Amino acid sequence: MCGIVGYVGRNSDGTAQAVIMEGLARLEYRGYDSAGVALVSGEHVEIRKKSGKLSNLRSEIESDPLPPSTAGIGHTRWATHGGPTDANAHPHRGGADGKLALIHNGIIENFHALRTELGAGGVTFTSETDTEVAAHLLAAAYEDHGDLTEAMRAVVVRLEGAYTLLAIHADHPDVVVGARRNSPLVVGLGEEANYLGSDVAAFIGYTRQALELAQDQIVTITAEGVTVINVDGSPAQGRAYEVTWDAAAAEKGGYQTFMEKEINDQPHAVRDTLLGRTDADGRLVLDELRISEASFTGIDRITIVACGTAAYAGMVAKYAIEHWTRIPVEVALAHEFRYCDPIVNERTLVLSISQSGETMDTLMAVKHARDLGALTISVCNTHGSTIPRESDAVLYTHAGPEIAVASTKAFVAQITACYILGLYLAQLRGGSFADDAQSVMKDLGEVPAKIETLLGRMDRVKEIAGFMADTRAVLFLGRHVGYPIALEGALKLKELAYIHAEGFAAGELKHGPIALIEPGQPVFVIVPSPTSEHGLHGKVVSNIQEIRARGARTLVIAEEGDEAVAPFADEVIEVPATAPLLAPLLTVVPLQVFALWLSTAKGLDVDQPRNLAKSVTVE
Ligand code: G6P
Repeated sequence: MCGIVGYVGRNSDGTAQAVIMEGLARLEYRGYDSAGVALVSGEHVEIRKKSGKLSNLRSEIESDPLPPSTAGIGHTRWATHGGPTDANAHPHRGGADGKLALIHNGIIENFHALRTELGAGGVTFTSETDTEVAAHLLAAAYEDHGDLTEAMRAVVVRLEGAYTLLAIHADHPDVVVGARRNSPLVVGLGEEANYLGSDVAAFIGYTRQALELAQDQIVTITAEGVTVINVDGSPAQGRAYEVTWDAAAAEKGGYQTFMEKEINDQPHAVRDTLLGRTDADGRLVLDELRISEASFTGIDRITIVACGTAAYAGMVAKYAIEHWTRIPVEVALAHEFRYCDPIVNERTLVLSISQSGETMDTLMAVKHARDLGALTISVCNTHGSTIPRESDAVLYTHAGPEIAVASTKAFVAQITACYILGLYLAQLRGGSFADDAQSVMKDLGEVPAKIETLLGRMDRVKEIAGFMADTRAVLFLGRHVGYPIALEGALKLKELAYIHAEGFAAGELKHGPIALIEPGQPVFVIVPSPTSEHGLHGKVVSNIQEIRARGARTLVIAEEGDEAVAPFADEVIEVPATAPLLAPLLTVVPLQVFALWLSTAKGLDVDQPRNLAKSVTVE
C-alpha cells in the first residue's frame, strides 16, 4: 500500500529520474491513486505529482520536464488521509522555504494533534494528508539540527502509527534519508549509486544486492555508502542478502497482463516451493525453520492468521493439517484475531500466511500472538519483509514476485507450504499419517505437471467468460476443501470484474442461499473427487441437481472421467485426478482464469482493480 522509491547516484544527469520512474512502474501495484517524484536540483527541490495512474505523471513530466539530478524520491499512492487529488499526492514539501520534500507509506495516527500544533505555530497546509505534517516537522527539526539524519531521528519519536518516510533536502544533493516503523523499506546496494524501495522490485533493474532493515531504524544513503542507525542514535547494521529473482521475473514475459502470466507461473510456484524440502529418502527436512523438534511436539493447537486470499489458503490447509496431525486448527482473519480474546499460549502455533509479508493486519496479529507466548511461524513469499522478521521462523514460498493485485500463484504456493509444514508435523508426531507423509509429498510432486495440463485446457473457460460480460451475479459452491475454493472463486470475481459473487458451503445451500437461485443464475460448483471419503461426491452431485431443478446454469468443475456430473451440468470443466486434499491446487485454476477473462471482457484493468492495493500496510 503506497510504493516508495529513493535514489542517490554520483552523476547529475537524467539517471535519478529514470531510476525513480522505473521503480514507480514496478511498484504501482502497491497503489495507484496518484504518483509523484521529487528531485534535488541546484538550490531547489523540483516536484511533479499527479492524481491517477503513473501514466498521468509521465504526461505531466513530458509537458514540464524535470532537471538533471543526483538524488530523488518517488511515490505511488493508495489514499488514506485525503482523497486522490493532485494536492494530496506525494511528495509533500516541508518548511517555509520548501527546500525539503518527503514521501510516506502508512498512517500517522497522532497527525491531528501534530497538525493543530503546527497550525498554531503558523504553518499553513496545502493538503489534507497526515504526510504533510511529517514534512513540516522534519523541516523544523532540520532547522535545529542542520543534519537530515538527525532531524529524522528527532521527528520519528514524535510519530505514532506506522510509517516509512523518505526525505530529500535541497542543501544535500547527495543524500536520501529514510525511516521505518511497521512499514516496509529495503535498501538496494549499487555501484556508485544506492537505492531505497518499499520492496526490491523498486531497484531490481539495477541491483540484486539488498539490505534488510529492522524496525525503528533510520537509513541514510549516498552514492558512496549506506549508514543505518537505531532511533536512539546507536549504530546498526542491516542484514545483507541477494535477491534470487531478476528483473525479467517482474515483467509480463509476453502475456497481456501480470495476472495472466502469474496464473501460468503456477506450476513453477508449486514446484519451486516443494524444492529442497525433502531428503534422499523423501522425508521432510525443515532445518531452515531453526526450531527444535521438541518445540513442535508440544503444540496442541494451531491458529492460522491471514487476510484475503491468504486466509482462504489457510482454510484449505486447515482440512489437511487437522487430518494429518490431529491437532485442532482454527483460521482467524488477522484483523479479527486480536479483538476476539484469542485462546493462545505457549503450546499454540500461530501460523501467519502472507504473500507480501507486509499486511498490517497480519503483522499485528503475529505480534499479539508473540506477546501471548505462542510459537509464530510465517508462510511468506517476500524476503526481507516485516512479518517473517517478527516471527520465530519462516517457511518461504518460492512463487517469485507477484505483481497483479489479485493473488493467484501465491495462493497455490501458500497451500503447498502449509501442506509441507502439516506433513512435517505429522512426521514428527509419528502415528499413522507420519508414514503417509512421503506418499503425499510424491503426489504433491505431480501437481505442477497437472496444473500445466489444466492450463492447456482453459480455452473453453475463456470463451464462457467472454459470453458473460453482462452477468450481474455469480454463485460458487463447494464442500470440504472445495468450500474455501468457492470463496476464493467469488473473491477473484469481486476483485477483478466488480460482479456480485458469493461462495457457499454447498451443504448450506438449503439453509438459505438456495432462495437466490432463479432461472439462468450462473453457479460454479466444485465437485470433490469420486474417491473422496464419506460419500461427499454424491452429496455435491445432489446439490447440483437441486439448483438445476430451480433453473440455475451450472458450471461444474469435476475430476476428469467423473461421469456422474455430466447429466446435470451446463458446462463441465475437467481437472486432472489427484488426491482429494490436493484438489484445491487444481480446482482454483479455472476460477482464476474465469475471473481474468470476464474482467477483460468487461474492459477492466485486470492488474490494478479499482480501490484495491496489493500490499495493505494500514489497519
Ligand atoms: C490484499 C490483496 C489480496 C491479498 C491480501 C493479503 O487485500 O488485495 O489479494 O490476498 O491483501 O495479502 P498478503 O500479502 O498478506 O498475502
